[in-house]
Amino acid sequence: MCEVLLDVQHLTHYFKINSKIKIRAVDDLSFQIRRGEIFGLVGESGCGKSTAAYCLMNIYRPFSGKILYRGIDICDPKAYRRNKKMLQTSRQMIFQDSASSLNGRMKVAEIIAEPMEIHHIRPPRGSLRREAEFQLHYVGMEASYLDRYPSQLSGGMRQRVAIARALTMEPALLIADEPVASLDVSIQAQILNLFKHLQSEHGFSILFIAHDLSVVKYLCDRVGVMYRGRLVETAPSGELFENPLHPYTKALLSAIPCPDPRRERHRVWQEYDPALFEWPGEMVEISPDHLVRKGEEKIEN
Ligand SMILES: Nc1ncnc2c1ncn2[C@@H]1O[C@H](COP(=O)(O)OP(=O)(O)O)[C@@H](O)[C@H]1O
Ligand SMILES: [Mg+2]
Repeated sequence: MCEVLLDVQHLTHYFKINSKIKIRAVDDLSFQIRRGEIFGLVGESGCGKSTAAYCLMNIYRPFSGKILYRGIDICDPKAYRRNKKMLQTSRQMIFQDSASSLNGRMKVAEIIAEPMEIHHIRPPRGSLRREAEFQLHYVGMEASYLDRYPSQLSGGMRQRVAIARALTMEPALLIADEPVASLDVSIQAQILNLFKHLQSEHGFSILFIAHDLSVVKYLCDRVGVMYRGRLVETAPSGELFENPLHPYTKALLSAIPCPDPRRERHRVWQEYDPALFEWPGEMVEISPDHLVRKGEEKIEN
């Protein structure tokens, strides 16, 4: 399936700190997400992942660049207004910190049903509560949790509730911003499996944001590695892990611990020294779907 759902072109976003200082959080970022694919966006903390996600969700207005969703230029106010309901329902976002993203004063049933109320969507299963119960069950939780408050749930359960809430809108695009970063490793695996399962059942696209590559390895179809607001490499997941080309990707990969203790003992950490390469260089297509940023290596005297 090759139809493009989201087309991000030269997206740039600055934060103005004062009259002299501005932070270039996202800098000339371009990538596409196809229908039904899970695209992983990976990079260290502060590289601009959340800022990019907020631009894609119309939370921030980008400084420049274009974002086409289903061919609609979502940064054009007129086009946005014309398609407002579709844009607000068919794109859903899950945040890292569900403790603060879920309203602590609402019960789980109300949290899940709220988007249907806001958008005046008739619940397919008769009532808002029955719909909430269905979605909660669907993400692996029992109906007894419907009357609990978020503070009475574990982190993993809160993320399940956030996912159930998003599912009520039958999204075509789910943006998940480090949804497992604050969870224990065993719970992380459960939530990753849930994402994989949901994607295969519903066929929606997912932009899955993470700060380390190990999390996206089994989940994502394609991965983009981000550094200082830009992509440095994008490739199908298997290709990226087998044949990483950019020195920053190699450094990220070398940071993943090996499960085999013998191999772990011989694991060599690679560091990426940006001073050794011309920046930003150019994105070059090495093989179909595998792009890498090429910058001349600087020769040290
Ligand atoms: N609201 C803000 N005001 C000023 N600077 C910000 C703001 N949000 C993010 N930044 C800065 O923009 C850069 C990218 O941040 P962010 O998008 O949160 O990165 P990530 O999600 O990859 O950790 C960082 O240098 C961060 O400090
Ligand atoms: Mg972030």
